[in-house]
Amino acid sequence: MSSRVSAKDKAEADERLGSSGTTSRGPDSESAGECRAIAHSNIALAKYWGKRNRELNLPAVPSLSLTLAALSTTTRVKFERSLERDSFELNGQPGDATATTRVSELLGRVRRAAGLSCFAHVTSSNDFPTASGLASSASGFAALALAALGAAGLTWPDSAVSDLARASSVSAARSVFGGFVTLEAGATSAQTLAVGPVAERLMMLIAATEMGPKAVGSTNGMLHTQATSPYYSSWVDTAPRVYAELLSALLAGDVQKLGETMEHSALLMHASMIAARPALMYWSPATLAALACVRELRQRGTLAYFTIDAGPHVKVLTTSEHSTLVREQLLSVPGVRQVLVSGVGRGARILGEP
Ligand code: DP6
Repeated sequence: MSSRVSAKDKAEADERLGSSGTTSRGPDSESAGECRAIAHSNIALAKYWGKRNRELNLPAVPSLSLTLAALSTTTRVKFERSLERDSFELNGQPGDATATTRVSELLGRVRRAAGLSCFAHVTSSNDFPTASGLASSASGFAALALAALGAAGLTWPDSAVSDLARASSVSAARSVFGGFVTLEAGATSAQTLAVGPVAERLMMLIAATEMGPKAVGSTNGMLHTQATSPYYSSWVDTAPRVYAELLSALLAGDVQKLGETMEHSALLMHASMIAARPALMYWSPATLAALACVRELRQRGTLAYFTIDAGPHVKVLTTSEHSTLVREQLLSVPGVRQVLVSGVGRGARILGEP
C-alpha cells in the first residue's frame, strides 16, 4: 500500500467518484463481475467524533489509528444482471434495512464511476466473535469498497479507495491502510504513517464486556453530541492539539506519552458525549472496573493505557512483553467476557479466489 496522498491521487479520486465511467471495465468484460477483499478493524488512539460536513461525511477533527491484525472482515461482491436490487448478507444472515441501504449507497458510487447498471450480491463475514458487539463499520466498509471496485473492474489508488470507504463511514477510510494511520480534519482520505521500530512492540488488547441495552450507533451518537452538547465545541477546539501531541509522542517512540495522550483523547470525547442532552453514556460497571484494572497495573509498573469507543468495551495499549499479564488481569475483571489480543495489522487487500 502506498504511503502518501499526492495531489494527483486526490484529483484522480475526486474525478473517479464523480465520473460517469471513463475508467470502467464492467461485468461485461471477462475478468470482472466478482471480487473478494479483506480489511482489518482499527482503533483510534486520537479519536474522531463529529462531522464537519454531514452530507459529504467529512470529519470535524483529526484522528490517528492503529490497524488490528486480529480483527478483520472479508467481503465478496458479485454484480449480477438477474438481480432486481442489491442484497447484503452479514455472517450468514440477511443484513438489516439500514445496513443494506448503506451498502447499496457505496455500490451506487462504484456503479456511477464504472458506468454499470446491474445490482450486486454482497456477502460479508467477520473473523471476530460477532455476539460481542465489537462489529465495526471500519473494516466492513473498507473491505466493501475494495471488493466493489474489484468486481466493477476498477483499479484505484489507495487514497481513492480510502475516499470511497470514508464516504460511507469515516473510520473506514483508515482501515484501507495498515499500521498507524492518520486522517486530518476535513480530509477525504487517510494516510499511512511511518513510525519506526516502536510499532513492532505495540499490542492492543480488547476487553469485551457484557453488553447492556442496544447502544446508540456512532453516527447518531456524534450527531446528537454536535446538536446538544455544550462541550462539543471545546472537543473540536481541543482535539487537534491532542492529536498533534499524540503524533509527536508516536514519532518519538515515547510509549508512555502516547498512552497518556490516548487516554486523554478518549476521555475528552466521552466528556462531550456525557454532556449531551439526554446524556450519551456508553460505559457500564465493567467498563469502569476495567479502567481501574488498567490504572492499577500501571501503578505496579506495567505498561497499559486504555481507550473506549462508542460502546462499553475497553481497549488497552501495551507492549508484547506486558501483554500476557495485562490479558490475565483484564480477564479477572467482573463483567469482562473475553480479551482479544492483537498486533499491528496490514492494509486492506484483494483476495485471490472470489
Ligand atoms: C468512537 O466512523 O463509525 O469509533 O463516520 O458516522 O460512520 P461514521 O462514524 P464512525 O465513528 C467512529 C467513532 C469512534 C472513534 C474513531 O474510530 O475515531
